Amino acid sequence: MIDQSKLPLREEFFECADHRCVAEAIKTMRIRGAPAIGVAAAFGIALGARNSSAGTSSELIREIEVIAEILSKTRPTAVNLFWAIERMKRAVFDHKDLEVEQLKSLLEREAIFIAREDAETCRRMGVHGSILIEDGDNILTHCNAGALATTEYGTALGVVRAAHGQGKRVHVYADETRPLLQGARLTAWELMKEDIPVTLITDSMAGFLMSRGRVDKVLVGADRIASNGDTANKIGTYTLAVLAKENEIPLYVVAPMSTIDFNIFSGEEIVIEERDSKEVTRICGKRIAPEAVPVFNPAFDVMPNRYITAIVTEKGIARGPYAESLRNLLSRQEAGGKL
Ligand code: MRU
Repeated sequence: MIDQSKLPLREEFFECADHRCVAEAIKTMRIRGAPAIGVAAAFGIALGARNSSAGTSSELIREIEVIAEILSKTRPTAVNLFWAIERMKRAVFDHKDLEVEQLKSLLEREAIFIAREDAETCRRMGVHGSILIEDGDNILTHCNAGALATTEYGTALGVVRAAHGQGKRVHVYADETRPLLQGARLTAWELMKEDIPVTLITDSMAGFLMSRGRVDKVLVGADRIASNGDTANKIGTYTLAVLAKENEIPLYVVAPMSTIDFNIFSGEEIVIEERDSKEVTRICGKRIAPEAVPVFNPAFDVMPNRYITAIVTEKGIARGPYAESLRNLLSRQEAGGKL
């Protein structure tokens, strides 16, 4: 995996040989972004199984449950993590009769399949979402919802990529995204690599740009979408959503179906991760605030569904009322519908 904590200063890759390494990488955000941590967790389980010396299938299954528990304790908000873990567990439970070695290969294949599926899903979201993008659009985005946050293409930035690939002239304003600067470090880096025009701004500049008519659309990813469409994403997204509505700018959420949590009705049920105070009192390790100052550091916030113009998924575009439109997409998915 590329070490996202080092970018853009160093482009370094690291390898994990066991599930503990994967869990630590997710926790410390060397790998981050909802779909990417789901894929990483799936490989974490496959690695855990590969390293197991269990003599029987039931012993292996018990070990997998422990490994799944360790991985699920890493980050609480992005539902893709739990979705991928559940899918790996289900693959095992559905094939309990297999021998140990067969189960190990099955898990490896399932992890590879989840990774490939993510790449395909992102491309499909790009196709659907690019319909919403017009030639000459200025697009504001927050955090990093790009190739880095997925296996290779991105969600919100996947839509930008697709539109750019179709020859539409798009320009992105990237919020720097304090405290961990995913916008400045990752989104700016990723877009520049692809020659997609990007301008970096600090988070507090977004409202001014909108009020001056310099933003046509806001495109963001998501960490968890409740069944009524309320959406958790990187802290600061809610602020953008309110500003976008005030300035009559459409805001689109781009996320795979695996980010929709049909087990919860509204955003109030989403657990919001709180992270170390040092992320706020320091920038790139350098202290910028009094050592003992009390800090509040929620990593995500929740946009009520009324602020969301549409949700782009690989199964199509949902518009309000979301309780109904998201369910329809789910039925389409369960029926194995195509693009
Ligand atoms: O804390 P992070 O960097 O993992 O948060 C990531 C985000 O909030 C992204 O916008 C979200 O996961 C969507 S990524 C395709």
